[in-house]
Amino acid sequence: MFRIAPSLLSANFAKLGEEVSNVVAAGADWIHFDVMDNHYVPNLTIGPLVCEAIRPVTTAPIDVHLMVKPVDRIVPDFAKAGANIITFHPEASEHVDRTLGLIRDSGCQAGLVFNPATPLHYLDHVMDKLDVILLMSVNPGFGGQKFIPETLAKLRAARARIDAYTAVTGRRILLEIDGGVKVDNIAEIARAGADTFVAGSAVFGAGSDSDPNRYDSIIGSL
Ligand code: DX5
Ligand code: ZN
Repeated sequence: MFRIAPSLLSANFAKLGEEVSNVVAAGADWIHFDVMDNHYVPNLTIGPLVCEAIRPVTTAPIDVHLMVKPVDRIVPDFAKAGANIITFHPEASEHVDRTLGLIRDSGCQAGLVFNPATPLHYLDHVMDKLDVILLMSVNPGFGGQKFIPETLAKLRAARARIDAYTAVTGRRILLEIDGGVKVDNIAEIARAGADTFVAGSAVFGAGSDSDPNRYDSIIGSL
């Protein structure tokens, strides 16, 4: 089973609640919520207040992608704001195992995010604490970038690690991909092993702003 997670980064922020309702009505499974701090990544976006504001609009899981440093002190705020999944970049945390524990103890699912050049060895000792592995297929910071093709081999490697782990433990870990996902490459990305697809500009760039059903066709095609 595949999940589509539209990234709000490319949504119309003047109508954020409507954007959330419209993508969920069109079939989105998760809402991907990109948090950037102008420190760990070169952009500044949204925080727990905005998460709290959209929480009543949908029952779809809110997938908070933290691109912030430090990580730990913002985790409880997002849990309180209604996040369901919280992922972070291991380079941004001094104590990766502790941060994963903090997220799970706050009642959320936890995940690690890998930049294009970050090796998968961060997975070595923490698989039991992961619900999601998120591979970045662009460098984090901006929507609308081009998919980096080397990510396909990395996806296959992550898929193999997850399958080997699940065979032994029976525990499922999702494999999410973020960056440059479009209608014309999503099948190849799925074949490489991803099961959860973030799409920002592909979804929110579709159709005309005045059409409330403009996301039906794009989400149906992904
Ligand atoms: C980039 C963000 C992505 C971004 C994806 O740092 O993590 O979630 O919104 O946007 P597209 O789908 O346009 O590449
Ligand atoms: Zn993201």
